[in-house]
Amino acid sequence: MKSIRITIIGTGYVGLVSGTCFAEMGHQVICVDKDSKKVELLQQGGIPIYEPGLEELVKRNVAAGRLRFTDSTADGVENSEVIFIAVPTPPQPDGSVDLSFIEAVAREIASQLVAYRIIVDKSTVPVKTAEKVTETIRRYSKAKVEFDVVSNPEFLREGFAVEDLMKPDRIVIGVGSQRPVAAMRDIYEPFEAPLIVTDTNSAELIKHAANSFLALKISYANALSVICEAAGANVQEVARGMGLDARIGTRFLQAGLGFGGSCFPKDLSAFIQISSRLGYDFRLLREVQRINSDQMERFIKKITDTLWVLKDKRIGVLGLAFKQNTDDVRTSPAIEVCRRLLAEGAHLRVFDPQAMEKAKALLPPGPQLEYVESQEAVPEGCDALVIATEWPQFTGLDLTRTRNVMHTPIVLDGRNLFDPEEMERHGFIYKSIGRGS
Ligand code: UGA
Repeated sequence: MKSIRITIIGTGYVGLVSGTCFAEMGHQVICVDKDSKKVELLQQGGIPIYEPGLEELVKRNVAAGRLRFTDSTADGVENSEVIFIAVPTPPQPDGSVDLSFIEAVAREIASQLVAYRIIVDKSTVPVKTAEKVTETIRRYSKAKVEFDVVSNPEFLREGFAVEDLMKPDRIVIGVGSQRPVAAMRDIYEPFEAPLIVTDTNSAELIKHAANSFLALKISYANALSVICEAAGANVQEVARGMGLDARIGTRFLQAGLGFGGSCFPKDLSAFIQISSRLGYDFRLLREVQRINSDQMERFIKKITDTLWVLKDKRIGVLGLAFKQNTDDVRTSPAIEVCRRLLAEGAHLRVFDPQAMEKAKALLPPGPQLEYVESQEAVPEGCDALVIATEWPQFTGLDLTRTRNVMHTPIVLDGRNLFDPEEMERHGFIYKSIGRGS
């Protein structure tokens, strides 16, 4: 295996985990972030995000001398052959993508270039961004040296980032010339995954097309859940029966509160915008968005239909993160449920295994909202218990105790974690998604 000297600019989910996994595979990695406090924390062995397995991996690779952190882009550009850009590309109010961080990094790299470098975009960006990055570097580079811009989208899921990175389904490399291909192959060879080499525009489109398709799969399952409820069928059985057809696949067919997080909602809006700019009205994807927001409305209605007036009702909420295994609460359906219940005047007792601190920054503080120290304590004195995130540990709840400590035994399961028959046996009024009642 050939060890490559790599710099990653941006130490968010994608940058930090990619850099660490590259180091684990034997490459020499520098992680750069302009936030010197974050760099200091990382240098002292702290990890700014919760991601299973990451802390140990960072420690091991720092100790082995393969991974280090700095706030100096100049250091990174000087001491590596390949520079990855992994900075945020946040959404703008009209759904398009804010590319100002990418542009700023491109200018910074340009000002430091003195010899040939490969510049790789790993952030999720609209098609034609690699062309813009190339233009920008050319324009701002004083030394006028040669360079290549590569598009290499990342497909990791939060909460499974290390696992997804170490065992990827595929690697996509978009290039404008053949020169950077050998180094990119060297970087990814130890990961033993199928490698697709294509042009930069196709590589950029693959990322938006894949995320939008996965969101579409989830919305399909959510639409089915409405029909299943009306027909007295079970959406999980329907999804399994469909998904075992290898052409469909069982994954990402879980009906629930709808998808959230920092990727699907943003990427879907961006892809609709991009398509529209290219002259195509992607109505199919607008429908995917509509199904997703309807799913939340339907769940809130289910709560109000069951409890009638929410004012002064005591409601327990299990889960704040946008999905299991993460402390990320950005665009979290669970946070949205809390906001809606608080607005109706309910009193909430909330718990999440990892996301409590980050949730505090998003939810309005006050006597209406109580952060509870354990999942078992949440239902105490409650008129209803809402399951808002698919943390597997919630299924370990002691149902007999829960039934006994609740004021009225009502469970509204937005993630279909429990078995309806078992819940009824325990004496609960149990309502879930797409499984009748
Ligand atoms: C998603 C993609 O899955 C990754 O491949 C991609 O790299 C990433 O976006 C990105 O663009 O960076 P992520 O947002 O971390 O990953 O999380 P997912 O596991 O995809 O879950 C997204 C949302 O969909 C969550 O709210 C989850 O609860 C929901 N979901 C997922 C469902 O409602 N049903 C399902 O069957 C699966």
